[in-house]
Amino acid sequence: MKKILLSAVALLMLFSCQNETTEITQSADAVTKRGCASQEVLAAQMKADPTLALRMNEIEALTQKTMSTARLVNGKVQIPVVVNVLYRTTAENISLAQIQSQIDVLNKDFNAANSDFNSVPALFSGVKANVGISFVLDQVIRKSTTKTSWGTTDTMKKTTYGGLAPTSPTTKLNLWICTIGGGILGYAQFPGGSSSTDGVAIDSKYLGTTGTAIYPYNLGRTATHEVGHWMNLRHIWGDATCGSDLVSDTPTHNTANYGVPAYPHYSTCSGTPVEMTMNYMDYTDDRGMYMFSNGQKSRMAALFVSGGSRASFGI
Ligand code: ARG
Ligand code: ZN
Ligand code: CA
Repeated sequence: MKKILLSAVALLMLFSCQNETTEITQSADAVTKRGCASQEVLAAQMKADPTLALRMNEIEALTQKTMSTARLVNGKVQIPVVVNVLYRTTAENISLAQIQSQIDVLNKDFNAANSDFNSVPALFSGVKANVGISFVLDQVIRKSTTKTSWGTTDTMKKTTYGGLAPTSPTTKLNLWICTIGGGILGYAQFPGGSSSTDGVAIDSKYLGTTGTAIYPYNLGRTATHEVGHWMNLRHIWGDATCGSDLVSDTPTHNTANYGVPAYPHYSTCSGTPVEMTMNYMDYTDDRGMYMFSNGQKSRMAALFVSGGSRASFGI
């Protein structure tokens, strides 16, 4: 079906290109007006090489397909967000205001518009990033359930367990808001996993900045951290003692940091660097984290280019 449609578009394109070619040859002959020669040059090239039209038709097909799925605002990737709310108690059926407060935090944190961005120490001012990815609330889906907690085995994403299957996961970021339990604030699926479970789960007590959100996790940073994972970021300590997060501009950390560490906090890893405890990919309280690095930005951006694992969201 898709193939038939594509070849129909290709044929149409070929036809219109040939039409253009004749027209352009005629006006070029007249040579009265000044203008841009690109179209004339193209016509000559197409005459000399019939395969050029085929390649241009492929480019056009991809352009059309990308334009129909990718959302770009001012040249930046915009991610539509589907929020799946699973509730048993009325408190768990969180308000739209609480959901929107989370979208607002994501937009601030991923665009260097968070009010604490200027608290980044001078030592890291050269690497603090404006990631430049925005988020828009696409829809909220609510479902009443009998479960008291959902755990971390993706049951909230499956209708057979009383959960909600993701909506358009290859073009929309799905969030599942429910009680997870076991002290877990949230968890994400990394790029490369099944689209049927793709997205981020966040406990409703740690979502957004209002409603049921509880201190010290009431600034929406759990979602910022988890969306970081969803965009392929590792924990800053590399999930090992002095481990690697595969990002060169973040210092090596001994391990996870909690609470709000006093600055400077020195690593005892090789070179004893000052740790970037205020990075979203550490484990501090919400008010202790307020930056991504340029290296992290590059990792995230790599997902959205053509051929990237989340290219269906981007350019
Ligand atoms: N996956 C982490 C956890 O569940 C999230 C940590 C987020 N940190 C935060 N301050 N919100 O523990
Ligand atoms: Zn994490
Ligand atoms: Ca690093």
